[in-house]
Amino acid sequence: MMRKGKIIAVAGKGGTGKTAISARLITEILKLAGQDVCILAVDADADSNLPEALGISYNKTAGDVREGLLEDKHRDVTLDVRSQFEGKIAAIIEEEEQYDLLVMGRPEGPGCYCPVNHIIRMIIDTLTKNYDYTIIDCEAGLEHLSRRTTRDVDVMLVVLDTTLKSIKTALRLRQIAEEIDADVKQMMNIANKIPEGMEAMIIEEAKKYGLTIEEIIPFDPLIPEYDFKGIPIVDLPDDAPSVIGIRRIARAIM
Ligand SMILES: Nc1ncnc2c1ncn2[C@@H]1O[C@H](COP(=O)(O)OP(=O)(O)O)[C@@H](O)[C@H]1O
Ligand SMILES: [Mg+2]
Repeated sequence: MMRKGKIIAVAGKGGTGKTAISARLITEILKLAGQDVCILAVDADADSNLPEALGISYNKTAGDVREGLLEDKHRDVTLDVRSQFEGKIAAIIEEEEQYDLLVMGRPEGPGCYCPVNHIIRMIIDTLTKNYDYTIIDCEAGLEHLSRRTTRDVDVMLVVLDTTLKSIKTALRLRQIAEEIDADVKQMMNIANKIPEGMEAMIIEEAKKYGLTIEEIIPFDPLIPEYDFKGIPIVDLPDDAPSVIGIRRIARAIM
């Protein structure tokens, strides 16, 4: 069956809410799209917390597989790393009832251009074609964008909060998106954790920097409460104010 292969990257400064939004976005897309849709969730943050937000556990990361294969290759130079890797990545993907999860784990060291890393990129590029949507919870830095671990991104959700630093990061992201090889087709700025009554001010401030805020997700006390108690974000009630905002985003990008 032909899949949509749409890639959605969730990026922005650390702590703005990328993980919470990524997790709940998966649920909302699944609900809107119905039974046949197939989603791959990718936790691309070295400090992985998407599994917790989704309420699932995982065993191994792509980084673990890479390191293991590098050792094997060291012992046996004739090893066909590509074919080995494909199988090993498939084996570490956590399969849930309605979506799959791949945890990237520790990234390669800076400036490492060894063939194994190149192969990882190729395999992930192929992998995403087997899904309708791939949702990537990006790390706070822009490493995997600048290192091109992703193929063309259909939608980049840039998450901002009420900090000036998040505006600066959004501007830098826009600049990087223009510079990298991977083509980013659509960028959407989202203001998250916005206290009631501050919406117009946030929109105005962002505008001063040339940024258009396209969606606002309110500050929702349920999210820190769930985080604190260790309840998965995906279990938020359907009528929670934050969920309503995330649902609007799902509709806009599907
Ligand atoms: N809409 C929201 N309302 C209130 N708190 C939020 C909201 N979104 C995220 N948070 C809180 O902000 C913090 C950072 O969220 P997280 O999703 O981990 O950010 P990131 O992945 O960008 O680092 C968490 O403590 C979370 O509880
Ligand atoms: Mg996160």
